[in-house]
Amino acid sequence: MTPDEGGKDAIEVVYSQAEINERIAGLAGDIAAVSFQDLLVVAVLKGSFVFAADLIRALHNKGLSPQVDFLSLSSYRDGTTSTGRVDILRDVDLPVEGRDVLLVDDILESGRTLHFACELLKGRGARQIKTCVLLDKPGRRAADIGADFRAFECPDVFVIGYGMDKAYKYRELPFVGRIVE
Ligand code: IMP
Ligand code: MG
Repeated sequence: MTPDEGGKDAIEVVYSQAEINERIAGLAGDIAAVSFQDLLVVAVLKGSFVFAADLIRALHNKGLSPQVDFLSLSSYRDGTTSTGRVDILRDVDLPVEGRDVLLVDDILESGRTLHFACELLKGRGARQIKTCVLLDKPGRRAADIGADFRAFECPDVFVIGYGMDKAYKYRELPFVGRIVE
């Protein structure tokens, strides 16, 4: 882990807490309108942990009671750019065979991470897999995958906050922001 050098970055808000909350309520409504059976929500760690926490409570408010599990993937990045390799750091506990799965991630960028996760769970016999992301950066796609549900289409900038980090920092911010260079 990189030590905190105590430097102060200037951060600009891209999506505010209020905008995020409003979109998550909308997303939960869209998800609840799909007739999922025996729904299993799989949050792709680490970046999605804040989004997933808010989303599952919004799903509860719409009357859903999914099981929730976690898949920790490492998509290797060269600075802020994807290198293409994806490794499983922590697998889901539950079998997914025959189940409807909602994969939740923070950002769909090259698509390699979510494509890897979809193929993994498909290979284990999931009945149906849908994807839900906080941010979609369609301009950077390398894998053939889209998001079934997304909160925002995001400009092609490196973002932090609301679970997302730069060198393990800024996950605690309650909004999505960008570092002003
Ligand atoms: P992909 O495999 O290129 O689609 O990248 C997906 C993963 O890279 C996301 O789940 C994030 O964890 C990370 N990532 C991509 N873009 C950003 C960013 O702008 N800020 C922080 N993490 C990012
Ligand atoms: Mg991620």
